[in-house]
Amino acid sequence: MSAAPVAYARKDLLQIRGMSVDEITGLLDATREYQDPSVRSDALRGHVVVNLFLEPSTRTRTSFEIAAKRLGGDVVNIAAAASSLVKGETLVDTTRTLDAMHPSAIVVRHASAGAPAIVATHSRASVVNGGDGAHEHPTQALLDARTILDRKSRIEGLRVVIAGDILHSRVARSNAYLLTALGATVVFSGPETLVPAAIDTIADGVEIAPSFDAALEGADVVMMLRVQLERQHEAFFPSLGEYHARYGLTEARLRTASPDAIVMHPGPVNRGVEITPEVADGPQSTILEQVANGVAVRMAVLDAVVNGRSRRIAS
Ligand code: CP
Repeated sequence: MSAAPVAYARKDLLQIRGMSVDEITGLLDATREYQDPSVRSDALRGHVVVNLFLEPSTRTRTSFEIAAKRLGGDVVNIAAAASSLVKGETLVDTTRTLDAMHPSAIVVRHASAGAPAIVATHSRASVVNGGDGAHEHPTQALLDARTILDRKSRIEGLRVVIAGDILHSRVARSNAYLLTALGATVVFSGPETLVPAAIDTIADGVEIAPSFDAALEGADVVMMLRVQLERQHEAFFPSLGEYHARYGLTEARLRTASPDAIVMHPGPVNRGVEITPEVADGPQSTILEQVANGVAVRMAVLDAVVNGRSRRIAS
């Protein structure tokens, strides 16, 4: 099986910002072919995908590996602690070293914004950003959009509340770019210390609502973000208990959203902090659908960046 051509002819996928609506919708449409978990193809037969994960990950790393294998590719996983980066090798030297072994794609997760772009500059392989610092997480936004489309059949006109630690969230940024490009209104809500002052200027259709309770009224999608304690080197709020009291998504709060609102979370979840277990596991939650869609989206993305250019040239 081979996916239909998508309007994505770039070497790399580094960020949602700057992608055209055709590129986004092309990838989202291509994903549908891969949502059946029994689907296999030869799209990456003979290709090697390197997972260069220099920050922890369960969902992204695993789903890229499963995606590449379902497409017939070979996968090499590199973790920071087991790499020569711990001996002081630079990211550029690591990239040149990997490039000399001719992988077709390198998926990069890194604590620093811009690291995947550096790898892309120094490698002939297609580079996919698997999350870089607080910058972007493009495949997360694509899988979130796929999940919203599956549940709501549209994105245009939806009110999407993204709540919590916006300051440190690459997920929030990628989703804001993607969802507003497709016509949604994105409302950021959270403690003043965790919502950057000018974040509403990053795209038309982004708003800030300091009151989470006000933001939730009539929301079609509620996307809760993990409190990223590992990136917080100062106190942004008095205590986790206070955070939960003001910004935790509870069943009572969810009742003020649209009756058919869906609840999303990129994971991993801090149960009892940004979301209660009852809501995370409840009927409106799409958390595990997001995980499943992660494999399908990453199949579409790997196929597009590795084969897309040649497919477009040939057509
Ligand atoms: N959503 C996400 O990026 O999860 P992981 O950190 O487990 O990859």
